Amino acid sequence: MAEKKTKDAVALLKADHRIVEELFEKYEKASGDGSKQKLAERICLELSVHAKIEEEIFYPACEGKVDEELLKEAYVEHDGAKILIAEIEAGEPSDEFYDAKVKVLSEQVEHHVTEEEQRIEGIFAQARKAGLDMDALGEQLAARKAELTATYKKSGLPTPELTTIGA
Ligand SMILES: [Fe+2]
Ligand SMILES: [Fe+2]
Repeated sequence: MAEKKTKDAVALLKADHRIVEELFEKYEKASGDGSKQKLAERICLELSVHAKIEEEIFYPACEGKVDEELLKEAYVEHDGAKILIAEIEAGEPSDEFYDAKVKVLSEQVEHHVTEEEQRIEGIFAQARKAGLDMDALGEQLAARKAELTATYKKSGLPTPELTTIGA
């Protein structure tokens, strides 16, 4: 990245959302199995890293500061996404339900992103209002994101680590 200054936490997480939305749009337009698979793998990587840095760093910082129900729903939504991600990772574009899985994942992510980004009521807005140190969190998120991206690229995505299913 050419930027010198680290993004604050919300800017970093929102930028991730935009990247994934763009990839989903490209997937919709893609035709060949090869390009579909590449895009799907990129989506799975981006989302896996993103969910993990939120669950490791951002959501815990929101505890007690953001509406508890909303935060709990966010964890469950992440787990739903992780299950579909694992399915997509294990499959290939010629599979009967592959496109449908990518589509449903995009719809679930869209809903989840709204809950995070919604003005005033959203997780990010509540966290900012509560005075979280977004610069410090942004640095932590960026560092962990770089680390996880490198690991996942090297050794593949982990089997889904579900936070709420069965809990
Ligand atoms: Fe997010
Ligand atoms: Fe999230």
